[in-house]
Amino acid sequence: MSDLPPDLLARLRAARQVTALTGAGVSAESGVPTFRDAQTGLWAQYQPEDLATTSAFRRDPELVWNWYAWRRDLVRRAEPNPGHRALAQLEKALPGFTLITQNVDGLHQRAGSRTVIELHGSLERVKCFDCGAPAPAWPEAGPVPPRCGRCGGRLRPDVVWFGEALPPAALSAAWAAAQHCQVFLCIGTSGLVEPAASLPGEARRHGAALVEINPQPTPLSALADFVLRAPAGAALPKLTAFLAE
Ligand code: OAD
Repeated sequence: MSDLPPDLLARLRAARQVTALTGAGVSAESGVPTFRDAQTGLWAQYQPEDLATTSAFRRDPELVWNWYAWRRDLVRRAEPNPGHRALAQLEKALPGFTLITQNVDGLHQRAGSRTVIELHGSLERVKCFDCGAPAPAWPEAGPVPPRCGRCGGRLRPDVVWFGEALPPAALSAAWAAAQHCQVFLCIGTSGLVEPAASLPGEARRHGAALVEINPQPTPLSALADFVLRAPAGAALPKLTAFLAE
C-alpha cells in the first residue's frame, strides 16, 4: 500500500498527460550542489548568480570557465539517483509524459530518460561567446577559455545565463506541456527563476493538479494541490511503484 494521498493517486491514474519540471534539488542526492545551497571549497566565496552572467564572463572569462569546468567535472563523476531513475520509468510507464528540466547536468539522460526538454542548456556543450558557433570538442590544454576554431573568440558553456533568452523551441514545448497536462509535478526547484517558475501556475490555470516534491517550502507551495515534503529520491520511486501496480 502506498502512503501517498489517495486523491493524488486517483488524479495520476486518470491523467492522459503528466508533465514534470525538475530543478537542482533532483540532483542533490547525487552530490551535485543546488544553486542556492552554500557552495563548497574553492567556490564558497562566489554566488552562482554572480558567475552565471555575460558581464561576469566579459570581466573574468577564466574564472567563469573554470567554475563551469569544476561543475562539469563534478557532474561527470556523479551518478543518477533513484529520483532520476523513477522519472525515466515514468516516461516508459505513461504514454503521455513530458520531462522538463532546468538542470544542465545531463543526469536525467544518463538515468534513461529519452526525451528531456532542457530549458537552461547543457554543461556538455560549448559554443563561441562571439560568433555563437557550437564547438564539438575543445582542448583541455592551452588558453583558458579555449578559442573558437572558426573566429578565434572565447568558448563558453552552452547554458543560459541570467539575462539571456531561453532556447525558444524548448520554452514553447515546455509551455505546451504545462497547458495540456492533468498532473504537473514540480520537483526540487525553488521556483525563483523565470520563466520556468511560471510553468506550474500555467498548468494549474489550465486545470492540472499541481504536485510539489521538495523537503522545503517554496513560493510554489501555496499554489500546490499536493505537497510531498520529502527528497525526490524517496518520493518519486513511490509514484512509479504505484503506477506499476
Ligand atoms: P535552487 O538551488 O534554487 O533550488 C533547489 C531546490 O531543491 C530547493 O527548493 C531545495 O529545497 C530543493 N531540494 C534540495 N534537496 C532536495 C531533494 N533531495 N529533493 C527534492 N528537492 C530538494 O535550484 P533551481 O530551482 O533549480 O539557472 O534553480 C533554478 C535556476 O537558478 C537554475 O536552473 C539556475 C539557477 O540560477 C540558471 O543558471 C539560468
